[in-house]
Amino acid sequence: MTNFPKNRLRRLRQIHELNIINTETILSIEDLIAPIFVRPGKNTSTPIKSMPGIYQFSIDILCEEIENLKTLGIKAILLFGTLTEKDSTGSNASNHNGLIQTAIRAIKQNVSDIAIITDVCLCSYTTSGHCGVLDAKNFINNDDTIKILGEIALSHAEAGAHVVAPSAMMDGQVGAIRSQLDDNNFHQTCIMSYSAKYASSFYGPFREASSSTPQFGNRESYQLNIANKREAFREIDADIKEGADIVMVKPALAFLDIINKSHDLFNTPLAAFNVSGEYSMVHAAAQQGWIDKNKIILEILTSIKRSGANLIITWHAKEIAEFIQTNK
Ligand code: PBG
Ligand code: ZN
Repeated sequence: MTNFPKNRLRRLRQIHELNIINTETILSIEDLIAPIFVRPGKNTSTPIKSMPGIYQFSIDILCEEIENLKTLGIKAILLFGTLTEKDSTGSNASNHNGLIQTAIRAIKQNVSDIAIITDVCLCSYTTSGHCGVLDAKNFINNDDTIKILGEIALSHAEAGAHVVAPSAMMDGQVGAIRSQLDDNNFHQTCIMSYSAKYASSFYGPFREASSSTPQFGNRESYQLNIANKREAFREIDADIKEGADIVMVKPALAFLDIINKSHDLFNTPLAAFNVSGEYSMVHAAAQQGWIDKNKIILEILTSIKRSGANLIITWHAKEIAEFIQTNK
């Protein structure tokens, strides 16, 4: 004779139906951060071929788009610049009248109550397409790069960004940015660091959209080896010690184990980036009629939250917020 209670699952289902205990993980629109591409020009939106439904917006349209996102309940955006004028040091990235700096000021003037987060990196601004400046042998010069990243972050903070998000994976980037901000009295500007960013193939569509594909070599000298786990925790630990306010794991889906353990190991707020390749795969299959797009997106985002992410940066933000709002 076994003591195992019979019909346990049936009673559990009954409890759920009576709403006595809730679902463990509830995805909310407020968990989502919407990434957006900004482009020069006026009254223009350029569709990204490899990311159906995603556009590069000129600043005027960007402000309208952010209003739409706000109406849907989205509280934060992450801005990426897409420029065609590049040089060896990516000097446009820290230009006080540059694209992102101008966009931040326009958002501050035209839209209220939206958290402005900005990507801080060089790859969309350098002719090499690398995330840092190079030395004579075409190796990344880490120390010169983190100084430049500090200047970019400061220019964003001066324009009014609430959070700066360094994505270059240079050693010491968080500390360098924190001291630049503090030296200039931007004590309240937060840092969300792309701490555990893997050298992933899931960034392909993004690189097309921001023309930031490395012109030679790859990013394996500064991004993490996809086979490694403990190394990710060392990176996160270092970033927290340097002053990161939010740490991030990226990509999300193929790295749920990293998200999960980071949530257990650290008590700093944790973000996960559901990246371009993850987005495009869902859309490609949905276009073929092979999957139920919205249900798949909800399952993906719920799994990222269940694994331990407090914030989810996702290209699906707008479409899934629309779906949630219309199916309440
Ligand atoms: C560049 C950067 C990348 C992404 C965000 N910032 C690409 C890369 O490192 O090559 C990827 C975002 C995405 O794919 O959605 N520093
Ligand atoms: Zn980069």
